[in-house]
Amino acid sequence: MYLYTFVYVYFYTFIYVYFRIFIFSYMYTFVFLYFHICILSYFYTKIYLYFHTFVLSLRQILESMAKVISVLNHKGGVGKTTTTANVAAGLNKLKKKVLMIDIDPQANLTVHFGFPQESEVNIYHSLIHQSAMPILNVGEVKGLDIVKSSTDDMADIELQLAGVYGREFILKDLVNPIKQNYDYVLIDCPPSLGILPLNALSCSDLALIVIEPAKFSLDGMKKITTAMEKVQCRINPNLTDYRVLITRYNSNKVIHKDVEEGIRERFKNKVLQTVIRSNVSLEEAAMKGVDVYRFNSKCNGAKDYMNVCKELKKIK
Ligand SMILES: Nc1ncnc2c1ncn2[C@@H]1O[C@H](COP(=O)(O)OP(=O)(O)O)[C@@H](O)[C@H]1O
Ligand SMILES: [Mg+2]
Repeated sequence: MYLYTFVYVYFYTFIYVYFRIFIFSYMYTFVFLYFHICILSYFYTKIYLYFHTFVLSLRQILESMAKVISVLNHKGGVGKTTTTANVAAGLNKLKKKVLMIDIDPQANLTVHFGFPQESEVNIYHSLIHQSAMPILNVGEVKGLDIVKSSTDDMADIELQLAGVYGREFILKDLVNPIKQNYDYVLIDCPPSLGILPLNALSCSDLALIVIEPAKFSLDGMKKITTAMEKVQCRINPNLTDYRVLITRYNSNKVIHKDVEEGIRERFKNKVLQTVIRSNVSLEEAAMKGVDVYRFNSKCNGAKDYMNVCKELKKIK
């Protein structure tokens, strides 16, 4: 754009001088007008550059917002809640500010951090009345927060939301205003592909599919990836990526090795290199109401989840 401006200026200055000296003076007006246009185009160039810089800085601000990760699988007992809790705590140990959101009516994540499964302060009222989410700090760990669920209030939440207009965007409207306060937001989904996981996917940048190396695990994966593709296509174009995490892995079991091979063959580089080994400390930490690092930072569970965090951190 600058180049054009200078070409204009030089070209019309040349014409002006030529006409002023050799041709009739009335031409002067004509050339003078063009000269003005040149100056204007210079200012337009300036405005364009300022606008471009503004857009770039806006992008930078947006990029510094939290990455939202949905932890999901439509099956129960595969390790979603354990993964949400320990990935969140692990990322926090890596100096990241993390918010966990428990949208599971079973409230397992809430209980995992030592909160009662029924309490008045939970996500229910925010989902129903679109009011700000009640965010609590977890056990005075700096930079690790939670939005609780409640077995009582959330019991029939899917039914209550079924008739709400724009029901798939309810969580997105709650998460967007607090995104700039965190590096990561992790959403612990219930074991379904219903309206709650749909809400989670609608505001996510990444889906973390937790899978147990069992016989029919691979069949179920098709349902999840299809649901994700639909969400990306119709609802949330930001949901561009996903990762598969194998949990409760026991290398002594042949079936676990076979299923792992099958998963890696089918989902290639989407499968995280780290697998979470079966480790009783993970269960014990949950029983104690703490994450695995505070329970026993040397156990296999702590090591595996820390490696998962390091892998997730590398994803752009
Ligand atoms: N890697 C693991 N090793 C041993 N037990 C595990 C592991 N991951 C999860 N568990 C246990 O399995 C049970 C179900 O896990 P959970 O995370 O609640 O699954 P989900 O949220 O998918 O229903 C819990 O008791 C949990 O402590
Ligand atoms: Mg769970």
